[in-house]
Amino acid sequence: MSTSNSLQAVIFDLDGVITDTAEYHYQAWKALADELGISFSREFNENLKGVSRIDSLKLLLGQAASPLSLTEEEMVRLADRKNGLYQKLIEQITPADLLPGIPEFIADIRQRGIKVGLASASKNAQFVVNRLEAEDYFDVIVDVTKLKRNKPDPEIFVTAAALLGADPGKCIGVEDAASGVDAIKGAKMFAVAVGREALFPHADIVLPDTSRLRLDDLLRHFD
Ligand code: BG6
Ligand code: MG
Repeated sequence: MSTSNSLQAVIFDLDGVITDTAEYHYQAWKALADELGISFSREFNENLKGVSRIDSLKLLLGQAASPLSLTEEEMVRLADRKNGLYQKLIEQITPADLLPGIPEFIADIRQRGIKVGLASASKNAQFVVNRLEAEDYFDVIVDVTKLKRNKPDPEIFVTAAALLGADPGKCIGVEDAASGVDAIKGAKMFAVAVGREALFPHADIVLPDTSRLRLDDLLRHFD
């Protein structure tokens, strides 16, 4: 087991990295889009990953065949409706829903004395972590409700590093969303993306799935 010369922390996105809630977000948005008669594809859904609930709704409404003019109140009601659908789905989550390789990867990081953070744009993040029984994985979970800006702004990753007492230049961020990789790079961190290579031209490394996360491999590129 090698140790890193400089790595101080690994900061994870939650939805689509720790567990496959990205799929549940998609299903809930798809159900809402169907109710509204708006076409919504998996491909378009990529634009919503990492994006806040209300901004995701605006992107979805932008797909309507003819422009919808909704009041602020109507928008909030639709966002709440999507969240209700999403919350029903995440009630079923168990520790078995940790994505492949995640428990081993995090155990390896912790064993080497490197800190672990969670930087999720989701207001449901703590609930999901509890369902996964993964509270002890993270030295810090950033509370997104206390932030001014959401991804792709780097604030969430910068905040996680600060709370961990880590220098951003000595952190790795792990994401499944293009907006999340923007946030990591904006924070001047090393960006690992999980997903299709073509979606992440700005990442330092792209892996097809979480089972490929190996600290020794990442350190070879990072150090
Ligand atoms: C991000 C997801 O983690 O959280 C987005 O990638 C989601 O899809 C965002 O819109 C906000 O989540 P929530 O649970 O607060 O609606
Ligand atoms: Mg994500």
